[in-house]
Amino acid sequence: MQGLPLDDQGLKVETVQSINCEDQGSLLYTVPTFHNPTGAVMSNDRRKELLSICQSKRLPIVEDDAYSELWFDERPPLPLKAFDKNGLVLYMGSTSKVLGFCN
Ligand SMILES: Cc1ncc(COP(=O)(O)O)c(C=O)c1O
Repeated sequence: MQGLPLDDQGLKVETVQSINCEDQGSLLYTVPTFHNPTGAVMSNDRRKELLSICQSKRLPIVEDDAYSELWFDERPPLPLKAFDKNGLVLYMGSTSKVLGFCN
């Protein structure tokens, strides 16, 4: 397991470029929207850049999108999965967060 640095727009995607993921079984886990605990939201441009880098490295992504439906002022960008033309992204949402929000 290797942690990657974040800034106010979430995962610093240029660091993904430099990681060694030659081993079979490598994958990237990320929370692009309302990252827990920072709350950072990855920009659209960065999402596309991340997807492009992972495609070129053939690095699968697990996108944890537990919070994207819980927005107040501005709808967040579309999930990475929305731009995934090659089945590289495994997308996970959450029912419990939405039900909790409705209470
Ligand atoms: C980023 C993130 N993903 C997933 C979960 C778990 O979601 P669920 O309650 O649907 O298992 C949490 C719970 O706190 C979370 O913070």
